[in-house]
Amino acid sequence: MEASGEEVISVEDEAVDKSKFKTCKQIAFYRRQKQLRLEKSLYQALLDTLDITNDSIKFQVINEECKIPLSVEICEIEDNIFRLKINEIKPLKPRYEVPDVLIKEPAKFRLNISERDAGKLVLACASEDQQLHITANPFQIQFVSKDEIVLSLNSRGLLYFEHLRSPPHLRKSTVQENVDGSSASSEENQDVLGLWKENFGGFSDIKANGPSSIGLDFSFHGFEHVYGIPQHAETFLLKNTSEDDVYRLYNLDVFGYKIHSKMGIYGSVPLLLAHKPDRTMGVFWMNSSETLVEIATKAAMKVVPSGSSDISKQRVLPQTDVRWMSESGIIDTFILMGPRPFDIFKQYAQLTGTQALPPLFSLGYHQCRWNYEDEKDVEGVDAGFDVYDIPYDVIWLDIEHTDGKRYFTWDKKKFGNPMRMQKQLMKKKRKLVVILDPHIKVDPLYTIYSQAKQRGYFVKDRQGEDFEGICWPGLSSYLDFTNPEVREWYADQFAFKTYQGSSEILFAWNDMNEPSVFRGVELTMQKDCVHHGKWEHREIHNLYGFYQQMATAEGLIRRSGGLERPFVLTRSFFAGSQRYGAVWSGDNKADWSYLKISIPMLLTISMAGISFCGADVGGFVGNPKPELLVRWYQAGALQPFFRGHANMHTKRREPWLFGEENTRIIREAIKERYRLLPYIYSLFYQAHTAAEPVMRPVWVEFPEELETFGIEDEYMLGNALLICPVTEPKVTAVSVFLPGQQEIWYDFRTFKCIEGKGIVKIPVTLDHIPVIHRGGTIIPLKTSVGKSTEWMADVSYELRAALDYKESAVGLLYLDDGHSFQYLHKKQFLLRKFTFHENVFSSRCADENGQFCTKCIVEQIVLLGVKKQPSFVTASIHDGKDKAVAFTYDAKSSVLTLQNLSLNVGVDWELQIK
Ligand code: NOJ
Repeated sequence: MEASGEEVISVEDEAVDKSKFKTCKQIAFYRRQKQLRLEKSLYQALLDTLDITNDSIKFQVINEECKIPLSVEICEIEDNIFRLKINEIKPLKPRYEVPDVLIKEPAKFRLNISERDAGKLVLACASEDQQLHITANPFQIQFVSKDEIVLSLNSRGLLYFEHLRSPPHLRKSTVQENVDGSSASSEENQDVLGLWKENFGGFSDIKANGPSSIGLDFSFHGFEHVYGIPQHAETFLLKNTSEDDVYRLYNLDVFGYKIHSKMGIYGSVPLLLAHKPDRTMGVFWMNSSETLVEIATKAAMKVVPSGSSDISKQRVLPQTDVRWMSESGIIDTFILMGPRPFDIFKQYAQLTGTQALPPLFSLGYHQCRWNYEDEKDVEGVDAGFDVYDIPYDVIWLDIEHTDGKRYFTWDKKKFGNPMRMQKQLMKKKRKLVVILDPHIKVDPLYTIYSQAKQRGYFVKDRQGEDFEGICWPGLSSYLDFTNPEVREWYADQFAFKTYQGSSEILFAWNDMNEPSVFRGVELTMQKDCVHHGKWEHREIHNLYGFYQQMATAEGLIRRSGGLERPFVLTRSFFAGSQRYGAVWSGDNKADWSYLKISIPMLLTISMAGISFCGADVGGFVGNPKPELLVRWYQAGALQPFFRGHANMHTKRREPWLFGEENTRIIREAIKERYRLLPYIYSLFYQAHTAAEPVMRPVWVEFPEELETFGIEDEYMLGNALLICPVTEPKVTAVSVFLPGQQEIWYDFRTFKCIEGKGIVKIPVTLDHIPVIHRGGTIIPLKTSVGKSTEWMADVSYELRAALDYKESAVGLLYLDDGHSFQYLHKKQFLLRKFTFHENVFSSRCADENGQFCTKCIVEQIVLLGVKKQPSFVTASIHDGKDKAVAFTYDAKSSVLTLQNLSLNVGVDWELQIK
């Protein structure tokens, strides 16, 4: 019997039923790895097997008990990155190695041996002050920088590698082999260890390849702050874990997920950052199977400097131990040596790519709901924004817009003329986003289904039949996006002639792509399902959504003949997803605690390379009180991806439904976002070209300041704005930490210099959240807003310069057509650098490669922190005459405003302030 959508909805609508999801003790490979309780590693390096080639070194390590050798390969990659690969020398069959995540095969340096004996190997690295020390027995690797060990691998002896073996019934011996080489004769023990089969929630996971788990420990010496490994609804600073509670990286559909939990939710990026005042490091654990991470920070550990046995040199340092455990695959890990935070971001981007440059419209406000009912509803909501004078760029259609949840189709009654609807939106210079989930309704009359079925494009169950599971449409099969041929075919579905009723203003939303399978094990696909290349789902699970977004983005690019930038939002993600669009944090709740946790969650995703991220404004589940909604708009307006969204069981929530006063405040928050778009777009350009996160933790800007390391209730938008959302009701003042010794901070709206250092109390009303402009920076703004970003293309600029203690400031502005790839292929862009120094404000080209014609002008410059009134201001434009500039000066607030400037944004000019 086919399950109806309604029936399914009620399943997802329950509060988180934790019993549906595994605790870590219910995960067999975790139980197996936790059996390792050792004094010393079981592994010994056989240094006489050392093989040095031009770009790597290789040797074997052997497990003392089972005597199975593994191959270890180490190489140094340009930009201060190391790669360590450990695999079986001769596995029964190839083990899965994550493809498609690295943007290219990294260029390698030669490692030179600087010391060698039977027990130890010292390798000199490209960077002179760094060395790798490899100890044979027990096997250990230490990363030494300036004679200090900063990181050691396997120092706790937790290297773990289950070699592939033939199933018990094919083996001669009746004695069952245990994972670590010892014997486990009883069937009962086999079950406990889940070597060949694992039961949970009424499902049996049959492991065709038997046990294949891997693991390794890392100790960061001198570090007590670690971050990253999204996605969890947890604090920004990673917490110490316990045996019952470790960070899980396993993409799952957890409706209304619980806060302060380490359970896996929609996306995973196995990147961990460690930070101390003089160094930031990172570990990228490139594995797409289920992964668990243990963290133990110890306040002080005794350490003797490397190569010294002199106890008097012993120092007491904090240490953070991190243990990675994955269900399958190989150990393929990258050590990012930093040493500064921005080096880590670049190093990681060098491996997995940078944030795709979003089309400008997608940085505007998005209005979503499950569901906008029909074309009339869309028209009404769209008109509402004009009536209430609120800018917005995109209206979204959820699953009900389709014909019975058949993606790429329209409900004929409700959306009978989608082209007309899009033409109307087009006239308003607005866009449409529609949802496209990865499950495909089992219906031979549905072309997408029948074609995919006939071509064998669905994921298979372990018997080799198309896997069928329940999702929104009822019985569904799941496209195998890991297959490049399927991705090609899927991308082609976006061709205008194929996707009937779609136009160039239609963009995409990939949801439920963990993948979500109602009534499936842990609400997802069984691990013994089979993908392209005969790989089990267990190997690729965390990559599934990544591949769907890849194919969707490709489809949108392709339909435009390669000219236009795509916009694709995905719920599930992995390392590298930044290359394909945006992510959001799934089904949060209309509750203050979810507004609060959205900040650390988005900071964590940003640290993992995905700058374009956001949370459902207002909270997806439940009805927000007006005050919460207002506060959420104020926070969301200053986060990278800004979308209001609500569940189908909630009351309507368009921004004007909460009384005049609240509408006014929400309007102001959204308008402020639109005024700030030149700054935000420029930040995205820097994320795209230089891997600088758009939303960043305070410590990234102030890496030496210990007090900033735990901050998660305020953040920086770029390097210029410090934002402190209000996340509690009835707040009249907010305590904000103002970092920096010599920093000057200005209120973004009153322009007043904020007195005080460290924690400062800032009074607030419902009107605003604290936004603080950092001295020394210049922010480009638009002088007025329009109905959407496209209406604002010709609107003039204001440059707002906040002076530092040296009475200087700098800032960037990036400009292009906002939608095409011409910036890349034809270098049609402008990157301008504005500087204020020694009373001269100048505009210069910051990238000679770019050219873009614009009539846009800088109309106004506002300088904050100008100590005295100037006598005159003159403007000199290159090869033009000097001319006097009108200005006003407010001595009370020290603000100098230069008006009616009419300076072309694309040319060099200078203003002298005397
Ligand atoms: C789950 C998504 O998280 C949510 O945003 C969406 O509205 C529903 N699926 C229905 O498509």
